[in-house]
Amino acid sequence: MARRALITGITGQDGSYLAEHLLDQGYEVWGLARGQANPRVSRMRKLLSDVQVVRGDLLDQGSLISAVERVQPDEVYNLGAISFVPMSWEQAELTAEVTGMGVLRMLEAIRVCSGVSRGAAAASGQIRFYQASSSEMFGQVTETPQNERTAFHPRSPYGVAKAYGHFLTQNYRESYGMYAVSGILFNHESPRRGAEFVTRKVSLGVARIKLGQATELRLGNLEARRDWGYAGDYVKAMHLMLQTATPEDYVIGTGHMKSVRELVEAAFSAAGLDWERYVVTDQTLHRPAEVDLLCADPKKARTQLGWEPRVAFDELVAMMVESDLRLLTDGGDPDQDSSWP
Ligand code: NAP
Ligand code: GDD
Repeated sequence: MARRALITGITGQDGSYLAEHLLDQGYEVWGLARGQANPRVSRMRKLLSDVQVVRGDLLDQGSLISAVERVQPDEVYNLGAISFVPMSWEQAELTAEVTGMGVLRMLEAIRVCSGVSRGAAAASGQIRFYQASSSEMFGQVTETPQNERTAFHPRSPYGVAKAYGHFLTQNYRESYGMYAVSGILFNHESPRRGAEFVTRKVSLGVARIKLGQATELRLGNLEARRDWGYAGDYVKAMHLMLQTATPEDYVIGTGHMKSVRELVEAAFSAAGLDWERYVVTDQTLHRPAEVDLLCADPKKARTQLGWEPRVAFDELVAMMVESDLRLLTDGGDPDQDSSWP
C-alpha cells in the first residue's frame, strides 16, 4: 500500500514542491487547506490534481485531530505558517498562534490520534513528524557558518515563534518518544515564491522594467546577506530527514552567502539591464531589527542524509527572472495569485 503523507501549508511554495516530490516517490498525498473559499486552494488543485484536500486550520485544534483521523498519515509535514518576517511585527499575536502554537496543536493531534503517552517508548509504525524550522532562529548570529549546535538569538516575532516550535518538537521527541524532527532551513526560493519576499520582488521588478511596465524598483536594506538556495532541492531534504532510523534535526543550506545588492546585480544582468539605473532604496522598507547575515554549515545533512543542493545562486536568479518575463508576457497577474509555473 502507498505511504500516506499529510502536508500543512500545501498552498505555499514548499507545499507545492514537496507534494510533487512525494507523488513522484509513490506517496498518497493529502494537503491541509484552510478557509471556505481560499483562491490559493484552486491554484494548487490546478497544478497538483493528484493531491487530496482535507480542511483544517492550525488555529483550530479539533480540525487537526479530525484531519489526522481521516488521513491516517505515515508522515506529517508541518509547513503551514505566517512566514513573512515583516508581517510578524504587524500581527505578532497571530504569528505566535499560527507559526508557534500551530506546532503544538499539530503535535497534540498526532499524539492524541496515536495514543502516545508520556515516557512511552517510540513505537514502530508511528506517525513521523517534520517541523519547518528556520535559520531566522539564529537571528543575530553568534558564529558563522551556523550549524545544528549554534545558539539561537531570534530578531523578530516570527523567529521567536519558530524557536518555540523548534524546541517543542524536540521536547515531544524527548518526552513522548515521538518520531519528530526539525529541518532548520535557510532561505529557499523559486518561481513559485510569494511576491512579498525579496528574490521574487526583484525578479518581478526586473521583468516589469524590461517589458516597460515599470521604471523603478524600491527596496530596503541592500547590505543584508543570505544563504539562498532552490526550493525544489530543499524539499528533498525534508523527505530524507523522515527516512532515517533515528529522528534528528538538520541544517539545510548551500554554505554560500550573497548580499541583496548582489542578488539585484545578478537579476538585472540576467535581463541585460544595469541595476543602478532602476533601484531606489527606501528607508520605510527597513526592518525594526535586521538579521544581517545567515550562512549554513550543511555538513551533517551532506554526510548523514547524502543531501546536496543542485541549483546554484546565478542559475536560481536567472530561472526566476526568465519565469517572470514569461508570466508577464503571457498576461499573467502575479498579484491575483492566479498563475503558478
Ligand atoms: P509560504 O509560501 O508563505 O506558505 C505558507 C503556508 O502556510 C500557506 O500554504 C498558507 O496557507 C499556510 N497557512 C497560513 N496560515 C495558516 C493557518 N492558520 N492554518 C493552516 N495553514 C496556514 O511559505 P513557504 O516558503 O512555502 O515555507 C514553508 C514553511 O517553511 C513555513 O513554515 C516557513 O516559515 C518555513 N521556512 C521557509 C523558508 C523559505 O525560505 N521559504 C525557510 C525556512 C523556513 P494559505 O494559502 O491558506 O494562506
Ligand atoms: N521582503 C523584502 N522586501 N526584503 C528586503 C527588501 C524588500 O523590499 N529589501 C531588502 N530586503 C532584505 C530584508 O531586509 C532581508 O534582510 C532580506 O532582504 C531577505 O528578506 P525576505 O526575502 O523577506 O526573507 P527573510 O530572510 O526575511 O525570511 C525568509 O527566509 C527565512 C529563512 O531564513 C522567509 O522565507 C522566512 O519564512 C524564512 O524562515
